[in-house]
Amino acid sequence: MKDLKWKSSPAGPLRGTLRVPGDKSVSHRALMLAGLADGTSRIEGFLEGEDTLSTAAVMQALGVRIEAGEPGVRVVHGVGLHGLQPAGRSLDCGNAGTGMRLLTGLLAGQAFDSTLVGDESLSKRPMGRVTTPLTAMGASFTTQDGRPPVQIHGGRPLHGMAYTLPVASAQVKSALLLAGLYAEGETEVIEPHPTRDYTERMLAAFGWPIDFEPGRARLSGGHRLRATHVVVPADFSSAAFFLVAASIVPGSELVLARVGLNPRRTGLLHALRLMGADITVENEGVSGGEAIADLRVRHARLQGVELPEALVPDMIDEFPALFVAAAVAEGQTVVRGAAELRVKESDRLAAMARGLQGLGVVVEESPDGAVIHGGSIQGGHVDSLGDHRIAMSFAIAGLVATGPIQIDDCANVATSFPGFVELANDCGFKLNLAG
Ligand code: S3P
Repeated sequence: MKDLKWKSSPAGPLRGTLRVPGDKSVSHRALMLAGLADGTSRIEGFLEGEDTLSTAAVMQALGVRIEAGEPGVRVVHGVGLHGLQPAGRSLDCGNAGTGMRLLTGLLAGQAFDSTLVGDESLSKRPMGRVTTPLTAMGASFTTQDGRPPVQIHGGRPLHGMAYTLPVASAQVKSALLLAGLYAEGETEVIEPHPTRDYTERMLAAFGWPIDFEPGRARLSGGHRLRATHVVVPADFSSAAFFLVAASIVPGSELVLARVGLNPRRTGLLHALRLMGADITVENEGVSGGEAIADLRVRHARLQGVELPEALVPDMIDEFPALFVAAAVAEGQTVVRGAAELRVKESDRLAAMARGLQGLGVVVEESPDGAVIHGGSIQGGHVDSLGDHRIAMSFAIAGLVATGPIQIDDCANVATSFPGFVELANDCGFKLNLAG
């Protein structure tokens, strides 16, 4: 579906109360742990996106029965830690890096062989960051020069180890912890900067003894997972597009309802506030063990900032949206220490720099960041490179551009944000299919 194109036209003000779909990271993990648990788990608020549907299909191919009831609900009949069965065919993770990396860890501990494959974008992404430490735990893999397909040679006894991650990555941490469930002894992961801790929290919720604090997690093999009820919060990374959109469109006021506010996810909130955004956190509560709240965002005049590098891991998926905010802010915004953006669903530094440059914005790209000179965005034509977050970011840019922006290759928005176009138009976007 490379030919799905959007046209985003100047519009606004944006108004309304929106509920964005369930969190992608939590939904992937819930399926995996529920599948390995003893008993039947219920997942509510599940993201009905292509990425998480791929993970559901993989778990089903491995013998887990998953019932889909009303939208956002899954009932998972766990097979127990040692109950997965060989699929007898390749397991397709689609576009999902999280799915593939976590499943690599999970499958490394099985008695049988498996092969994980992905789409064109995922097939270019580095897997050595998980297979190298997993190999040190005793696992065995064949990859294409560190890229998918990932063949997992099962039946290898795993042993725990202490591992310091070279880059902050929740996916790598999670893969090692999932392999650690099957390992003899203790698996410890130490991070250079704390990353999202959903795997740790969810393992605890499923009854696995685990010791964790920001930047460190430790568990031992040989326990069991017990089925539980998982409530998935609305995805902060999806809410992020609307936080930026309402901030930059004059007269706007939006409420994003019941959004997950895990502190390892909310870097963009801090970054936008540093830029002068008007965002208030209301009705704070806890759901499924995660902090949630309503976010009220009103238009504000944004100023460029030097983004503190310490915020980078806490907003790793929000840079495409931040670049749009920076492009209309007063003055320049400096991003550094964000080289990881080059190995996401696309090279996001290049995709945003080139896209904005094509719309008349001055962006100086560097190996690990960019300087974005705020001003105005012209109408024009950009390529999302099949990256969901790039497509949605340019949809926001179209709201404040001098003319419509045509965005190519938008089908992958369905990986993380089904219904984006409808929700956006409901609150005041002018987002249409382009011919
Ligand atoms: C994720 C971790 C991050 C993030 C991705 C989801 C996760 O990736 O970019 O969208 O669910 O663990 P890295 O671990 O590669 O930083």
